[in-house]
Amino acid sequence: MIKEALSKLKTVLPDSNIIYMKTKKYLACAIVLLFAGNQLQAQTLYNAATEAKITGLIQKMTLQEKVAMIHASSSFTSGGVKRLGIPEITTSDGPHGVRFEFGRDWVPDQGANDSGTYLPTGNTLAATWNPALGFAFGSVLGSEANYRGKDIILGPGINIIRSPLNGRNFEYLSEDPYLISKMVVGYIKGVQSQGISACVKHFAANNEEVDRNTVNVLMSERALREIYLPGFKAAVTEGQVNAVMGSYNKFRGQYATHNKYLVNDILKGEWGFKGLLMSDWGSVHSTKEALENGTDLEMGTDLMLMYSNVSQTNSGGTSNKSNMYDRFFMADPAILMVKNGTVKEALIDDKVRRILRVMYLTHMIGSKRAAGSYNTLDHQKTALKIAEEGIVLLKNEGNLLPLNKTSVKSIAIIGENASRENAMGGGSSQVKAKYEITPLQGVKNLLGSSAKITYAQGYKIARNQQADPQMIEQAVAAASKADAAIIFCGWTHGYDYNKWDDNAYDAEGVDKPDMNMPFGQDELVKAVLKANPKTIVVLMGGGPIDVSEWINKADAVLEGWYPGMEGGNALAKIIFGEVNPSGKLPMTFPKKLEDSPANKLGEFPGKNDVVHYNEGIFVGYRYFDTYHVQPQFAFGHGLSYTKFDYSNLAVLAGKDKATVKIRIKNSGKRAGAEVVQVYVKQDNPTVERPEKELKAFTKVFLQPGESKIIELKLNSDAFQYYNEDRKKWVLEPGKFTVIVGGASDQILQTQKITL
Ligand code: BGC
Repeated sequence: MIKEALSKLKTVLPDSNIIYMKTKKYLACAIVLLFAGNQLQAQTLYNAATEAKITGLIQKMTLQEKVAMIHASSSFTSGGVKRLGIPEITTSDGPHGVRFEFGRDWVPDQGANDSGTYLPTGNTLAATWNPALGFAFGSVLGSEANYRGKDIILGPGINIIRSPLNGRNFEYLSEDPYLISKMVVGYIKGVQSQGISACVKHFAANNEEVDRNTVNVLMSERALREIYLPGFKAAVTEGQVNAVMGSYNKFRGQYATHNKYLVNDILKGEWGFKGLLMSDWGSVHSTKEALENGTDLEMGTDLMLMYSNVSQTNSGGTSNKSNMYDRFFMADPAILMVKNGTVKEALIDDKVRRILRVMYLTHMIGSKRAAGSYNTLDHQKTALKIAEEGIVLLKNEGNLLPLNKTSVKSIAIIGENASRENAMGGGSSQVKAKYEITPLQGVKNLLGSSAKITYAQGYKIARNQQADPQMIEQAVAAASKADAAIIFCGWTHGYDYNKWDDNAYDAEGVDKPDMNMPFGQDELVKAVLKANPKTIVVLMGGGPIDVSEWINKADAVLEGWYPGMEGGNALAKIIFGEVNPSGKLPMTFPKKLEDSPANKLGEFPGKNDVVHYNEGIFVGYRYFDTYHVQPQFAFGHGLSYTKFDYSNLAVLAGKDKATVKIRIKNSGKRAGAEVVQVYVKQDNPTVERPEKELKAFTKVFLQPGESKIIELKLNSDAFQYYNEDRKKWVLEPGKFTVIVGGASDQILQTQKITL
């Protein structure tokens, strides 16, 4: 047994680690670790034959050549060693399309073939609750990245949606670590199935934008373990992600990108991550910390932009652009530190080893990638499918939806969001879309000449813009004359998408000021609802909106997110019933911002560059449920045009796990899909625990009248909490309630078990 374990150990641990494994004590620890779940990451990212080749390469490198590999060589590449046939790594954003070409600087290339597939954003993907679509999404990205000559795609982005205000929520997935974990694994495997590396970001606790470069995030260990880390852990241990991006913020006083606890102790130690940890662009602040605390690759801004007036570099070079990268923390200063004995060269070797490992896996050395593909019909179909499954029907009183294509002879389409293309907005996630079907175009595509379509802009997306009475009047006139009206309102990525810094609301570097729709949209919605009660309100953007001013008057409300290049078609198909909605909210929609836990118990965005996550583990529905605060729309909520019946719940409990069986029937008249959600509640915990937590789900597709028996497993971790004193996950024996339903506030079946 020991012999077998030893030989297995040799194949999963790098040489450098083996050195430390000599004593029996370490060996025993290593074996325990090996069989405790770390082997997955190690097996894929570690291959003995490749390691030997890597050792050979490292032995041939000079210190200068090694250091050239651990920092950027242009805006999106890192250094190679031509002499040894080691190419540069080419990266690209991410996360919902391959970004346009910059060449080696930050000036967009002219005439490049870089208009690609613009996928729905992270929220939409998460709202599908369909991990298979995560894989499909990742495969499209990987394939297009490959076609475009990229090696690493800078996605997925999986930071927890802690507050509705974070400007980058639209790129992220959810407030719930379990949902994130399930979706992220598929995404990563999809990207990497194309021979490309994914890079999960931003590690960790990067949950606000305004002060992201300076803020020091303080939270309990339990919140870190139960809420903020599980998605990353799943990305590493289950998704086998090849690269991780460190975030800008500080965590407990030390920058996250070179945070000893996050990177060395947890990511590379506990989780056994064998790939590379790259910085966010410009997130390294100290050579010594970066070298010692696990940062493998420093990426960043084109220093030419920052030092455009400087003629000489500190490193004695000239102002030649390529030399500018020698100024990076992990460039000349690193060489100096090795030379003067401050750090050991072995630290650099480990970084180079990890980078080379990723290069081998990404077929940059040693093997060739199969060709990728670009802008195929299949890719566009995937974008459509994700939008169709991710759009959420929030409200449908009196079955106003779906509209009937044959009886609606005139329709008013209202709102600038109906005609706005969004692919180029939002910051680094911008995509030059091959095309983008806006909601207005989608309705036109579907209705053709069968109905008269009148468009009214309704409001204007412009800085400091208030309600425009004339525009509202035009919208009211259009709505009152039409059989039905649809308002497309909500957020935007900013004003002029051609200008890099004209960001607002849903964008990098900014947070929203509040949860209210800007540009006087509430006034518009109220006026139109009054003019025509057959008005459908479609919210667009990256998450919760305060709808309290008019929600009681609106019969039909949809959440459309930023649904990608086929989004307009998907929305129209749902509105006219060609597609039955099946999306479920991946985050709670509070009634008011004040109800949101980060605002109520914690701080957002904090003060004087410090933010305390005082709400701890009570993020999202964990807070709303436990503190009995009624949300506007609950986590997991989403309606359908058909009806699902839940029956025959049977939970079979084992020693520390359980199997859940439930029968789901489509008792309506349309085919549809239901996301069956399983939550777990500990009945009398001795420590504070949320009212309930999502621990399993599956999306079931059913024909009218059809029923299926679903079986879901709850493993030991479904019942555990993180015990800060014991520094580990613990299952406290006792009574648990297994809760099954179609939303966190729609409990349909429960059963108590004792573990
Ligand atoms: C963002 C990253 C992005 C990088 C490169 C940074 O500002 O935070 O998400 O991948 O830029 O564009």
